Amino acid sequence: MIVNFAPRPIHWRPMSRIRLHDLEFELFIPEAEVNAAVDRLAGELRDKYDGKRPLFVGVLNGAFFFAAELMKRLDIECEITFVKVASYHGTSSTGKVSDLIGLNERLEGRHVVVLEDIVDTGNTVKHILDALHDHHPASVSIAALLFKPEAYKQSITIDHVAVRIPNDFVVGSGLDHDGLGRNLPGIYRIIKKDP
Ligand code: IMP
Repeated sequence: MIVNFAPRPIHWRPMSRIRLHDLEFELFIPEAEVNAAVDRLAGELRDKYDGKRPLFVGVLNGAFFFAAELMKRLDIECEITFVKVASYHGTSSTGKVSDLIGLNERLEGRHVVVLEDIVDTGNTVKHILDALHDHHPASVSIAALLFKPEAYKQSITIDHVAVRIPNDFVVGSGLDHDGLGRNLPGIYRIIKKDP
Protein backbone atom coordinates (compact mmCIF):
# COMPACT_ATOMS: atom_id res chain seq x y z
CA MET A 1 0.00 0.00 0.00
CA ILE A 2 1.34 3.42 -0.91
CA VAL A 3 0.48 6.19 1.49
CA ASN A 4 0.49 9.64 0.02
CA PHE A 5 1.26 12.39 2.44
CA ALA A 6 0.15 15.69 1.02
CA PRO A 7 3.18 17.97 1.02
CA ARG A 8 2.72 20.59 3.67
CA PRO A 9 5.69 22.94 3.78
CA ILE A 10 6.18 24.34 7.23
CA HIS A 11 8.15 27.52 7.68
CA TRP A 12 8.66 29.26 10.94
CA ARG A 13 7.93 32.94 10.61
CA PRO A 14 10.78 34.56 12.52
CA MET A 15 9.00 36.05 15.50
CA SER A 16 10.71 38.93 17.22
CA ARG A 17 9.02 38.13 20.56
CA ILE A 18 7.64 34.96 22.09
CA ARG A 19 6.15 33.86 25.41
CA LEU A 20 7.07 30.51 27.00
CA HIS A 21 5.18 29.73 30.20
CA ASP A 22 5.59 32.84 32.35
CA LEU A 23 8.53 34.42 30.52
CA GLU A 24 8.99 36.60 27.44
CA PHE A 25 11.87 36.24 25.00
CA GLU A 26 13.15 38.30 22.06
CA LEU A 27 15.00 37.13 18.98
CA PHE A 28 18.72 37.42 19.71
CA ILE A 29 20.59 35.34 17.09
CA PRO A 30 18.69 34.61 13.86
CA GLU A 31 18.77 31.09 12.41
CA ALA A 32 21.08 32.12 9.53
CA GLU A 33 23.70 33.34 12.01
CA VAL A 34 23.47 30.16 14.08
CA ASN A 35 23.91 28.13 10.88
CA ALA A 36 26.93 30.19 9.82
CA ALA A 37 28.52 29.63 13.25
CA VAL A 38 27.91 25.86 13.01
CA ASP A 39 29.43 25.86 9.48
CA ARG A 40 32.58 27.45 10.87
CA LEU A 41 32.76 25.03 13.80
CA ALA A 42 32.27 22.02 11.49
CA GLY A 43 35.25 23.26 9.47
CA GLU A 44 37.40 23.44 12.63
CA LEU A 45 36.41 19.91 13.64
CA ARG A 46 36.96 18.52 10.15
CA ASP A 47 40.51 19.93 10.07
CA LYS A 48 41.27 18.53 13.52
CA TYR A 49 39.68 15.08 13.27
CA ASP A 50 39.85 14.01 9.63
CA GLY A 51 41.34 10.47 9.57
CA LYS A 52 40.91 9.98 13.36
CA ARG A 53 37.37 8.59 13.33
CA PRO A 54 36.19 10.69 16.32
CA LEU A 55 33.32 9.64 18.59
CA PHE A 56 30.94 12.54 19.20
CA VAL A 57 29.06 12.37 22.51
CA GLY A 58 25.96 14.58 22.47
CA VAL A 59 24.59 15.65 25.85
CA LEU A 60 20.81 15.24 25.92
CA ASN A 61 18.34 16.77 25.82
CA GLY A 62 19.63 20.12 24.63
CA ALA A 63 22.41 19.02 22.24
CA PHE A 64 20.16 17.01 19.90
CA PHE A 65 19.65 20.05 17.67
CA PHE A 66 23.31 21.14 17.57
CA ALA A 67 24.46 17.53 17.10
CA ALA A 68 22.18 17.05 14.07
CA GLU A 69 23.18 20.36 12.49
CA LEU A 70 26.87 19.59 13.04
CA MET A 71 26.65 16.02 11.71
CA LYS A 72 25.05 17.24 8.46
CA ARG A 73 28.11 19.40 7.88
CA LEU A 74 30.86 16.92 8.84
CA ASP A 75 32.09 15.05 5.79
CA ILE A 76 34.57 12.86 7.69
CA GLU A 77 34.35 9.32 9.07
CA CYS A 78 32.90 9.66 12.58
CA GLU A 79 30.45 8.14 15.07
CA ILE A 80 27.89 9.73 17.37
CA THR A 81 26.27 8.62 20.59
CA PHE A 82 24.25 10.41 23.27
CA VAL A 83 24.38 10.60 27.05
CA LYS A 84 22.08 12.17 29.55
CA VAL A 85 22.79 14.18 32.70
CA ALA A 86 20.42 16.26 34.77
CA SER A 87 21.47 19.56 36.28
CA TYR A 88 19.06 22.27 35.37
CA HIS A 89 15.72 23.49 36.64
CA GLY A 90 14.21 26.90 35.91
CA THR A 91 16.40 29.74 34.68
CA SER A 92 19.61 29.33 36.69
CA SER A 93 21.99 26.41 37.00
CA THR A 94 21.61 24.43 40.24
CA GLY A 95 25.23 23.30 40.18
CA LYS A 96 24.14 19.72 40.94
CA VAL A 97 24.89 17.13 38.29
CA SER A 98 23.78 13.52 38.33
CA ASP A 99 25.56 10.53 36.75
CA LEU A 100 26.16 9.90 33.05
CA ILE A 101 23.41 7.73 31.60
CA GLY A 102 23.58 5.74 28.37
CA LEU A 103 27.27 5.51 27.56
CA ASN A 104 27.73 2.02 26.10
CA GLU A 105 30.65 2.55 23.69
CA ARG A 106 34.24 1.52 24.39
CA LEU A 107 36.20 4.76 24.63
CA GLU A 108 39.69 3.40 25.16
CA GLY A 109 42.05 4.90 22.58
CA ARG A 110 39.24 6.91 20.91
CA HIS A 111 39.17 10.62 20.13
CA VAL A 112 36.06 11.84 21.94
CA VAL A 113 34.30 15.15 21.30
CA VAL A 114 31.61 16.16 23.82
CA LEU A 115 28.76 18.13 22.20
CA GLU A 116 27.01 20.57 24.54
CA ASP A 117 24.13 22.89 23.69
CA ILE A 118 25.45 25.52 26.09
CA VAL A 119 28.25 25.83 28.61
CA ASP A 120 27.11 28.05 31.48
CA THR A 121 28.88 27.47 34.84
CA GLY A 122 30.75 24.53 33.29
CA ASN A 123 29.72 22.13 36.09
CA THR A 124 28.10 19.73 33.63
CA VAL A 125 31.09 19.66 31.31
CA LYS A 126 33.48 19.14 34.25
CA HIS A 127 31.44 16.19 35.48
CA ILE A 128 31.23 14.63 32.01
CA LEU A 129 34.96 15.03 31.40
CA ASP A 130 35.80 13.43 34.76
CA ALA A 131 33.52 10.49 33.93
CA LEU A 132 34.93 10.10 30.40
CA HIS A 133 38.57 10.15 31.52
CA ASP A 134 37.91 7.00 33.59
CA HIS A 135 37.46 5.20 30.23
CA HIS A 136 40.99 6.13 28.98
CA PRO A 137 40.17 7.84 25.67
CA ALA A 138 43.08 8.99 23.44
CA SER A 139 41.75 12.57 23.73
CA VAL A 140 38.66 14.45 24.87
CA SER A 141 37.58 17.87 23.66
CA ILE A 142 34.46 19.94 24.04
CA ALA A 143 32.37 21.57 21.32
CA ALA A 144 29.55 23.88 22.41
CA LEU A 145 26.90 25.66 20.39
CA LEU A 146 26.82 28.47 22.98
CA PHE A 147 29.24 29.55 25.71
CA LYS A 148 28.63 32.10 28.48
CA PRO A 149 32.17 33.20 29.47
CA GLU A 150 30.86 35.48 32.27
CA ALA A 151 29.09 32.59 34.00
CA TYR A 152 31.90 30.07 33.54
CA LYS A 153 33.44 28.81 36.82
CA GLN A 154 35.75 26.02 35.65
CA SER A 155 39.32 26.11 34.37
CA ILE A 156 38.89 23.53 31.56
CA THR A 157 39.31 25.06 28.09
CA ILE A 158 36.18 24.91 25.95
CA ASP A 159 37.97 23.90 22.76
CA HIS A 160 35.35 24.69 20.11
CA VAL A 161 32.60 27.30 20.51
CA ALA A 162 30.09 28.31 17.85
CA VAL A 163 28.80 31.49 19.58
CA ARG A 164 29.86 33.30 22.77
CA ILE A 165 26.93 35.02 24.48
CA PRO A 166 26.41 37.26 27.54
CA ASN A 167 25.16 35.80 30.82
CA ASP A 168 21.45 35.88 29.87
CA PHE A 169 18.96 33.03 29.83
CA VAL A 170 18.29 31.88 26.26
CA VAL A 171 16.08 29.35 24.45
CA GLY A 172 15.82 27.91 20.95
CA SER A 173 18.04 25.64 18.82
CA GLY A 174 17.63 22.84 21.37
CA LEU A 175 17.56 24.98 24.54
CA ASP A 176 14.39 25.13 26.59
CA HIS A 177 12.56 26.92 29.36
CA ASP A 178 10.86 24.18 31.37
CA GLY A 179 10.38 22.01 28.29
CA LEU A 180 9.34 24.70 25.81
CA GLY A 181 11.32 26.46 23.08
CA ARG A 182 13.70 23.69 21.97
CA ASN A 183 12.16 23.62 18.50
CA LEU A 184 12.61 27.34 17.80
CA PRO A 185 15.15 28.05 15.06
CA GLY A 186 17.60 30.74 16.12
CA ILE A 187 18.31 31.83 19.69
CA TYR A 188 15.92 33.88 21.84
CA ARG A 189 16.99 35.90 24.88
CA ILE A 190 14.92 36.51 28.00
CA ILE A 191 13.38 39.97 28.31
CA LYS A 192 14.21 41.13 31.79
CA LYS A 193 11.46 42.90 33.62
CA ASP A 194 12.31 46.02 35.63
CA PRO A 195 12.19 45.21 39.37
P1 IMP B 1 26.23 24.31 33.35
O1 IMP B 1 26.46 23.01 34.08
O2 IMP B 1 25.96 25.43 34.33
O3 IMP B 1 27.33 24.68 32.38
O4 IMP B 1 24.89 24.19 32.55
C1 IMP B 1 24.77 23.30 31.52
C2 IMP B 1 23.32 23.00 31.21
O5 IMP B 1 22.40 23.95 31.79
C3 IMP B 1 23.11 23.08 29.73
O6 IMP B 1 23.39 21.86 29.09
C4 IMP B 1 21.65 23.50 29.62
O7 IMP B 1 20.83 22.36 29.65
C5 IMP B 1 21.40 24.31 30.87
N1 IMP B 1 21.47 25.77 30.62
C6 IMP B 1 22.45 26.62 30.97
N2 IMP B 1 22.19 27.88 30.56
C7 IMP B 1 21.01 27.81 29.91
C8 IMP B 1 20.19 28.80 29.21
O8 IMP B 1 20.51 30.00 29.09
N3 IMP B 1 19.04 28.33 28.67
C9 IMP B 1 18.63 27.04 28.76
N4 IMP B 1 19.36 26.09 29.38
C10 IMP B 1 20.54 26.48 29.95
